[in-house]
Amino acid sequence: MSTDNYNYTGKSVLVTGSARGIGFAIAEGFARAGATVFVNDRLADSVSSAIDRILASVENANVYPLPFDVTEESAVVAAFKEIEDKAGQLDICISNAGTQHRETVDTLDRETFSRIVDENLVSHFGIAKHAGAEMVKRGGGRLIFIASMLALHGRSGLAPYCSAKAGLVNLIRVLSAEFGESGVTVNGIGPGFIETELTADIRKDQEVVDKVNGRTPVARWGRPEDLVGPALFLASDTSSFITGQTLYVDGGLTSVYI
Ligand SMILES: NC(=O)c1ccc[n+]([C@@H]2O[C@H](COP(=O)([O-])OP(=O)(O)OC[C@H]3O[C@@H](n4cnc5c(N)ncnc54)[C@H](O)[C@@H]3O)[C@@H](O)[C@H]2O)c1
Repeated sequence: MSTDNYNYTGKSVLVTGSARGIGFAIAEGFARAGATVFVNDRLADSVSSAIDRILASVENANVYPLPFDVTEESAVVAAFKEIEDKAGQLDICISNAGTQHRETVDTLDRETFSRIVDENLVSHFGIAKHAGAEMVKRGGGRLIFIASMLALHGRSGLAPYCSAKAGLVNLIRVLSAEFGESGVTVNGIGPGFIETELTADIRKDQEVVDKVNGRTPVARWGRPEDLVGPALFLASDTSSFITGQTLYVDGGLTSVYI
């Protein structure tokens, strides 16, 4: 994925959940564009293998491992302290980490519902609170959240995930209202169906694969690289008058009915 239109040299970026999938593609894209990138995921091993892959594909990449669990408040606080120590400040925060759980409401229990909402909504609040506080104090920064087209639509078996993503899109609006005056913009990216580990199970079903291809105006599934350009754009100085928005990157799927 070409990043020729962007130069992020001198900027620092955290991408949560970037050991694989969409987060990895975004982290690699910012590294290619010259940024100092903090690669985060839950496990130190997966972070270090992601870093090796970026170093193999991007010459002179500035990448640092920052393993922590985004649902753990004390770990989040420690991570922001480490970023400050290493980079001085965080210019761009891409809050991407998320999980999915497929179970219909008839068997789903409250604990599981709460856990999935914690992982897909409350964790973003935690990241926003700590990244946003420093950016507001400094008077600038970019907060970008990876939401989902399922913020707009329901899907059987995904009650907590869909609820959390819808909540995230409105959290983005609230944060834009609270942080805007300080020059911090807050936006979301809502992916459609993207080929990652998260969708590996449903992609085993050819009927689902064909249905998505058939209903998507650009007639294909998305790839992690498809999210890189939108992230680079929303993080750039040229998008300073865009805030509170969620950009759906879905090949047009949410724009059509049939
Ligand atoms: N793949 C899709 O079709 C799709 C569609 C819409 C939205 N999304 C969203 O995009 C984001 C990335 O999804 P993906 O498809 O790349 O998924 P993925 O499962 O391939 O990657 C997610 C990464 O986040 C990490 N992660 C999860 N919980 C974490 C935690 N608590 N702390 C730190 N890291 C954690 C995982 O270990 C994994 O490496 C998610 O927020 C997801 O909801 C994906």
